[in-house]
Amino acid sequence: MSASQPQETVQVGTADSALNPSPDRVREMGAAALEWAAAYLDSIRNLPIAPAARSAELRDRLAEPLPAEGRDFDRLLATFRDIVVEGTRHHGHPRFFGYVSAPGTAVAAVADFLASVLNANLPAWRSAPAPVELERLTIDWIKEALGYDATAGGLFTSGGSMANLTALVAARHRHCGEAVSLHGMRSRPAPLRIYTSSEAHHSTHKAAALLGIGRENVVSVATDDRLRMDVDELAHAVEQDRAAGLDPFCVVATAGSVVTGAVDPLGEIAAIARNHGLWMHVDACYGGFARLAPSARALFDGLAAADSIALDPHKWLYLPADCGCLLYRDPAAVLGAFTLDADYTRILQDEPAEAYAFWDYGPELTRRFRALKVWMTMAHAGSQAIGAAIESNLDCARYFAQLVDAGEDFELLAPVELSIFCFRYLPPFARGRRDITADEERELDQLNERIMVAVQRAGSSYLSNATVNGRFALRGCVLNYRTTRQDMDRLLQDVRAAAAATTEPGVGSGSKGDR
Ligand SMILES: Cc1ncc(COP(=O)(O)O)c(C=O)c1O
Repeated sequence: MSASQPQETVQVGTADSALNPSPDRVREMGAAALEWAAAYLDSIRNLPIAPAARSAELRDRLAEPLPAEGRDFDRLLATFRDIVVEGTRHHGHPRFFGYVSAPGTAVAAVADFLASVLNANLPAWRSAPAPVELERLTIDWIKEALGYDATAGGLFTSGGSMANLTALVAARHRHCGEAVSLHGMRSRPAPLRIYTSSEAHHSTHKAAALLGIGRENVVSVATDDRLRMDVDELAHAVEQDRAAGLDPFCVVATAGSVVTGAVDPLGEIAAIARNHGLWMHVDACYGGFARLAPSARALFDGLAAADSIALDPHKWLYLPADCGCLLYRDPAAVLGAFTLDADYTRILQDEPAEAYAFWDYGPELTRRFRALKVWMTMAHAGSQAIGAAIESNLDCARYFAQLVDAGEDFELLAPVELSIFCFRYLPPFARGRRDITADEERELDQLNERIMVAVQRAGSSYLSNATVNGRFALRGCVLNYRTTRQDMDRLLQDVRAAAAATTEPGVGSGSKGDR
């Protein structure tokens, strides 16, 4: 081609190109994707839960140079189906009990698709009036579900870690005013102190590090025999710190701990927070929505007194990632914590509801339209069905605890407070004994770790690990509306089979399970 000949150009902005497909092509892509989605959801119970994937093999199958020219959507969907889906863990499987993982809901998946098509951005009311009103409405529904003040404010976040971080920024702002935002922590005369139980999720410690408060200023308060924060220890720690010239400003209670599901005594912690002028934040990321289940409701008495509550709709509201949520009892107390003036964020509306901006209540500017999937799931299912599903999850965990108690080859390592159960296998030498030696404890830890890996590899059930009172625990969390009592029976069979295989001479491996 000579230099004077026009170059062939790639058609990008014209009708029916890859970036701007015709309505028929959009329909074709959508129909193919929906066909896959319906079949996947229909078959999820029969899939092996965890893939036997290796990084090098996956890379080999996926690797290619950045394509200069586009591919058909069909080819991309085939890669998704044959490599991506085959090579991932299936969190919607009814016997996936690892970590704190929701199954997702079909209606939320559709909502995510619609939200992306609309591509609404929600930094402020003016950017997306109706989506912002929908976020406010769903936040109101969540407040109602939790029994929180109708005047409270809130917003959706990427997850619980972000909600906890954001709450601590607000708490620090109420305590310190603008000085810290302006001058940093060196403007403080004494180290700030945060109190949380020794069972708290590490996102609080991470937030303290990010805020320059420092992880060593997160005081780990001891727990009682149900692994709930010991309130006398809390009061004592605050008084001791005050006397030592330190600066207590916040207590983080946990409503559903990540290890055992323990719910701290919220009412008593609220009284101590009030007496000592502390901001009370509740990390209810795992447990909060269990208030919708009648048998768990009383555990959440006292929640309404919290200054802020972090929740994860992508946990026990069953939504697909990502969606966290933060509620503030007094939104006015937060104003100023995140506010910064700039020309591009100048508010031109007079009506307060229309002058509203999420950027005043959290660190993000561009925000996804997460509210759509929350609204669609809550409105489509209704609070009764969601409450009944949570109640059934609680029942499955309690039923499993009974199964464990009934067999001499297993023991529970912590009480079942919500839907988390921690237990271990006991080989013949350990059964019925209270005098297990330290060496034997180590042997039990190693054996149970091997059993966990064997269960994960077998693919029928999935447990993760925890340390409870220094012991290795097989840990499960029921967080799926598909899970039934029969699944709990099957889980125990699977663990027994893994234990038998692991204790046979020469079988089993000591390698760690991955997350
Ligand atoms: C009690 C608790 N808090 C916070 C988090 C962090 O939530 P996310 O993973 O959404 O950041 C978790 C996650 O499991 C949790 O269980």
